[in-house]
Amino acid sequence: MPEIAYVNGEFLPLEQAMIHVEDRGFQFADSAYEVMRTYDGKLFSAEEHLARLFRSLSALELEHRFTAKELICIAEEAVRRAGFAEAMVYLQVTRGVARRHRGVPARCAPTIVMTVRELHHPPPSQWENGLSCITVPDSRWGRCDIKTVALLANVLAYQAAQKAGVNDAIFIGVDGTVTEATAGNIFIVVSGELRTPPKSPRLLSGITRDKLLEAARVAGIPCAERTVTKMELLAADEVFVTSTTNEVSPVTVVDGHKIGTGKPGPFAKRVYKQFLQIFVRP
Ligand code: PDD
Repeated sequence: MPEIAYVNGEFLPLEQAMIHVEDRGFQFADSAYEVMRTYDGKLFSAEEHLARLFRSLSALELEHRFTAKELICIAEEAVRRAGFAEAMVYLQVTRGVARRHRGVPARCAPTIVMTVRELHHPPPSQWENGLSCITVPDSRWGRCDIKTVALLANVLAYQAAQKAGVNDAIFIGVDGTVTEATAGNIFIVVSGELRTPPKSPRLLSGITRDKLLEAARVAGIPCAERTVTKMELLAADEVFVTSTTNEVSPVTVVDGHKIGTGKPGPFAKRVYKQFLQIFVRP
């Protein structure tokens, strides 16, 4: 089955998709994006993703005329053409092409890019052993709530994790509190309570995070959106990361310390099961 791209009105095979060298997304990361997914060939939580994209675009003062409905229609068509049951749909909107200058161009037509690729399940070992992570200083800019493609700090943190022989990195702010992982939100479990750092400009408000909180509340698990210190992270009974593509990923080692029993814990499994039951396959 083909991997599909969509660029400014045209569907084409992914490897043929091109953008202009003076696209401001390429030159300045002047652009916002979303990563959606499908379950059984259907887009999941598309309205929530588009609402977040529009919030990002408006924070960047990036003017456009698309509606959420139009973008969802294009994404659905791309998914249909690609034909994967479980696909990752990447959607990026840049300010468009203009002669390179840091000033925002007065007139610029936004560039829209989408790609659809097959989404593979994480290996079963993830639920047997969990992930190992390191912590790294959060050196990102102050608006991590905007989903821009300026992800170099995330790239370098992930690279540091790979070099350390672990799966991912968790960002710690200068105040010693956890913000998030390189591509997902962090949850911890302390004495039966699920905790995740509150929404703020320091982290991306994940769609999966919100759904997990809802699923946990339905399951009767006490939840708190409150700051999590690095000490609390290391001493937690359970830690897990949430994202659209990896759903719920248990973390069993942080900075070489065993979390809880050192195996994925019951809360992560329970809340993931509840998430699937409520939102994915009711
Ligand atoms: N990223 N935090 C960061 C920094 C992220 O990059 C992501 C997801 C999340 C979780 O958001 P959501 O639950 O809405 O997917 C949190 C996507 C998957 C990515 O960039 O590939």
